[in-house]
Amino acid sequence: MPEIVLTNVTKRFGKFTAVEKLDLTIADGGFVTLLGPSGCGKTTTLRMIAGLESPTEGEILINGKPVFSSSKGIDISPNKRDVGFLFQNYALWPHMTVEQNISFGLENLKWDKQKIQARVDELLMTLKIDSLGKRYPNELSGGQQQRVAIARTLATGPKVLFMDEPLSNLDAKLRTEMRSELKRLHTETDSTFVYVTHDQLEAMTLSTKTCLMKEGIVQQYAPPLEVYNNPTNIFVADFVGSPTMNFIETKGRKGNNGEIRLPVSGRELVFSPASAEIPIRDEQPLTLGIRPEFIRIGEGAVEAKTYAALPSGMETIVKIRLGELILTAVVFGAIDYKPETDIRIDFAGDNCILFDRESGLNLGLGKLTVL
Ligand SMILES: Nc1ncnc2c1ncn2[C@@H]1O[C@H](COP(=O)(O)OP(=O)(O)O)[C@@H](O)[C@H]1O
Ligand SMILES: [Mg+2]
Repeated sequence: MPEIVLTNVTKRFGKFTAVEKLDLTIADGGFVTLLGPSGCGKTTTLRMIAGLESPTEGEILINGKPVFSSSKGIDISPNKRDVGFLFQNYALWPHMTVEQNISFGLENLKWDKQKIQARVDELLMTLKIDSLGKRYPNELSGGQQQRVAIARTLATGPKVLFMDEPLSNLDAKLRTEMRSELKRLHTETDSTFVYVTHDQLEAMTLSTKTCLMKEGIVQQYAPPLEVYNNPTNIFVADFVGSPTMNFIETKGRKGNNGEIRLPVSGRELVFSPASAEIPIRDEQPLTLGIRPEFIRIGEGAVEAKTYAALPSGMETIVKIRLGELILTAVVFGAIDYKPETDIRIDFAGDNCILFDRESGLNLGLGKLTVL
């Protein structure tokens, strides 16, 4: 049975709609990220599921039980929803030791002393802070404090864990480390994680499913690799992936066998749809989307020049000048091209994307060849 179901959930603040007609099913045991630019409604969505904010309309079920329903007048308080929170500012109680911070919630629930100690010890081990139990928060690093905050949230064994940008205050190295810890924790606890982030890489690497939002409206809800490989529209394609996808504005013309001819920078490219034929009108404004890793530098049929090369050790971002276009390619290894070097390129794979330029919608995936 699905764990959390939102149906037609809308949240308005006065005249402003923060979340609009949201339908979302979060499977039991999933790791779902709410992803999107600042202000798109992620925190509001999380707070509504948790019971900290009442929707204006709609219905929310947790484990089959309605916790909110505008039509039935149900609004269950957060502490009766069996959920745990971890927020961006994970204030620990400064006058309590690590152990006391973790055990506080259990004492409130009147667990007996022995059971509390066993649980605290278990959490200290799980989060690798077992040598820090007697310390106070001001004697800990940022990363250690964050681990304590996670242990405190996990203490009561909530079935659903909400996290709102919990790693955003950590430095880059610690953030990467904590990502692996969170992923392990998700497997170990069997809980459902609902995780808010504006960081696409975090969403890509952590989640079983990503819900990408824009201005209160869901753009795509799918496993991260599907979002990456087959984004529903230009906004999603642009938001996910680094360096970002290349977008080339062009106009289509129907060719033979379902092919689409695309003039690009004085040449004609041929787009062969991967599956179903893509119905276009002649001269329809299109945007061609090419991920940087699909541009191959080598023996290809297209003459181009390097604009700049940015080697970072393991890989090199190569900016390529193709007529008036500047494209971004990524190649493995460190290759330091001089600017204006003559190169030849072509396109790999079946995952180039044709978008309708007006609506921004993904029309289909396909292979790109050069005439
Ligand atoms: N209590 C509030 N009153 C008025 N507007 C709010 C309130 N909370 C959030 N908003 C607005 O709703 C939108 C979504 O906010 P939020 O969910 O916090 O975005 P995110 O977490 O994606 O950055 C923002 O434009 C924000 O200004
Ligand atoms: Mg937020």
